[in-house]
Amino acid sequence: MLQKIQETADFLRSKISTHPRTGIILGTGLGNLVTQITDKTEIPYQTIPNFPVSTVEGHSGKLIVGKLGNVDVLAMQGRFHYYEGYDMKDVTFPVRVMKALGIDTLLVSNASGGVDPNFEIGDLMIITDHINLFPEHPLRGKNFTELGTRFPDMSEAYSKDLIEKARQIAAKHKIKVVEGVYVGTTGPTFETPAEYRYFRAIGGDAVGMSTVPEVIVANHAGIRCFGISIITDLGVPGKIVEVSHEEVQQIGNSVQPLMTLIMKELIN
Ligand code: HPA
Repeated sequence: MLQKIQETADFLRSKISTHPRTGIILGTGLGNLVTQITDKTEIPYQTIPNFPVSTVEGHSGKLIVGKLGNVDVLAMQGRFHYYEGYDMKDVTFPVRVMKALGIDTLLVSNASGGVDPNFEIGDLMIITDHINLFPEHPLRGKNFTELGTRFPDMSEAYSKDLIEKARQIAAKHKIKVVEGVYVGTTGPTFETPAEYRYFRAIGGDAVGMSTVPEVIVANHAGIRCFGISIITDLGVPGKIVEVSHEEVQQIGNSVQPLMTLIMKELIN
């Protein structure tokens, strides 16, 4: 694995001339932020050695390196989901490569179902913490001390400092944000009403199918993290209706610009 990480990092270094310290992982369909990146170099995932091969035809994402405002960034448009069949080492491989490239701050976005009864569809939720319900842990197996410690601390998986700054940015622009705990589960089914109740009962505010693996590996690597989740549907008793991927994407699209604004200012 160490050799693969180096190989991939060397390949990417040969393609880019900057040294970004900020990494961004954008949820499926949440690529709006990318339109704000200038001086772009785009590198399709399928051309990157050792990157997982996409399971969805025509939907392989890309790495975008460029400037967001004045800051050099490296963004992943599209991520690898556990439900697609990758194992956790593949899902989190790009984060390891980011670390090798010198990334020290990671911003992530995703769509999720709200289980906090105070949430509304279209809310932006600053992720304050997570609960990992994936059946496979990304750090299971031999630990390489080059990558991080055997038993990583997770007491501040999402940087308090970045959360506070994001609060201030949202307040300044009068953007409504909520805050909460993201429960990461495999999918690909959306939840039954009983499952939504369970996620609420264990302390969750929203549930989704991504992010937790990448944030675990980032913390292992000493990368500070920040995440925003778009609440695209509600798993709240009395408010549960049929959900579809299309609706999730539609709601995601409509509030993306606000999320982009927060992310961009936070980065700068
Ligand atoms: N559950 C899980 N993942 C999701 C949901 C949901 O309700 N909405 C968007 N992603």
